[in-house]
Amino acid sequence: MCCLCTFIFPSLVQGKKTNEIRSGEIWPDNHGVHINAHGGGVLYYNGRYYWYGENKSDTTSSAMVGIMCYSSSNLSDWKKESVALPVITDDASSDIVKGCIMERPKVIYNKKTKRFVMWFHLELKGKGYAAARSAVAVSDTPEGPFKYIRSERINPRKLPFDMTDEQRAILDTLDANKYKQWWTPMWYEAISKGLFVKRDLQGGQMARDMQLFVDDDGKAYHIYSSEDNLTLQIAELSEDYLSHTGKYIRIAPAGHNEAPAIFKRNGEYWMITSGCTGWEPNEARMFSAPSIWGPWKKHPNPCRGPKSEITFGGQSTYVLPVVGKKDAFIFMADIWCPKHPSNARYIWLPIQFEDGIPYIEWLDSWSLDFFDKKK
Ligand code: DGJ
Repeated sequence: MCCLCTFIFPSLVQGKKTNEIRSGEIWPDNHGVHINAHGGGVLYYNGRYYWYGENKSDTTSSAMVGIMCYSSSNLSDWKKESVALPVITDDASSDIVKGCIMERPKVIYNKKTKRFVMWFHLELKGKGYAAARSAVAVSDTPEGPFKYIRSERINPRKLPFDMTDEQRAILDTLDANKYKQWWTPMWYEAISKGLFVKRDLQGGQMARDMQLFVDDDGKAYHIYSSEDNLTLQIAELSEDYLSHTGKYIRIAPAGHNEAPAIFKRNGEYWMITSGCTGWEPNEARMFSAPSIWGPWKKHPNPCRGPKSEITFGGQSTYVLPVVGKKDAFIFMADIWCPKHPSNARYIWLPIQFEDGIPYIEWLDSWSLDFFDKKK
């Protein structure tokens, strides 16, 4: 068992019944092998769900294989489809050369171009987490192979569109030389006001943990931890979803949020995030807004019950709307296992609502009819 799983859920039993979802356990694919699609997201297309995620090896979290794709009609039985975007092994100058870092891939379908667009967090081989780039790839079929296009920082030379003249004037006066010492109250205040937005203005904004969201009108948005993981940003994607339009906002400045997962219910946007503690679990956070452009309001931790203060040992990765069921959303999270990355486990739990506010409880075992019983 994975280091974290043994610690958190010592009494897990193997062997699942049909359609059962058992978080924290080994999830065999159609070959009986534990699904290797971490930090992932799910796309519904033409009657099937496609699960994309990071392939993790036994010894390193760097990308040795690439981005995986599995498919299912019932969200319980998963067929291994392909390595949707393989790492490059014969060109050391490629952004996605074997040994780089490819994290949190998400795929969306563009109805106008009829193409599948993948974005993921890319770090260049041997450079740790310094590059903080976003990478994009495209395919004509959900299982790929995806064609790699490019990687980049986001929206160079653009300030958040909702910054007031007054806020811009303050940003102009921020002098990086005055804030060389990190984590002081003064430094936090300067971060809030956009110290790192200004620092990264020419080259573009940093983006690490990320999410994609397609709204009802077909517009797509990229949500990512920016500014050295201190501030979330939401940026609009172009009509073909292959680039950014330059329009973006900042959320929870200096709030240290990672792992954003977003969904929409009754016109309200909800976002669940984590704090920043590397591979260690921490307490989830939740935000809501009446529009994708905010204002985003913070709520208490949506998780309830034992281990809720560490998100049941996991870190959010996606919220999956179940097709054909009203108000049916699955909270997806990863129980990381840094000492044996491929042994990381998945948490899938139903999102429940009380007075319209989402909450999540641990369930050892559940199936999709849980959503029908709740009605
Ligand atoms: C936490 C992030 O959420 C993960 O995707 C990964 O980047 C780790 N940090 C690396 O420590």
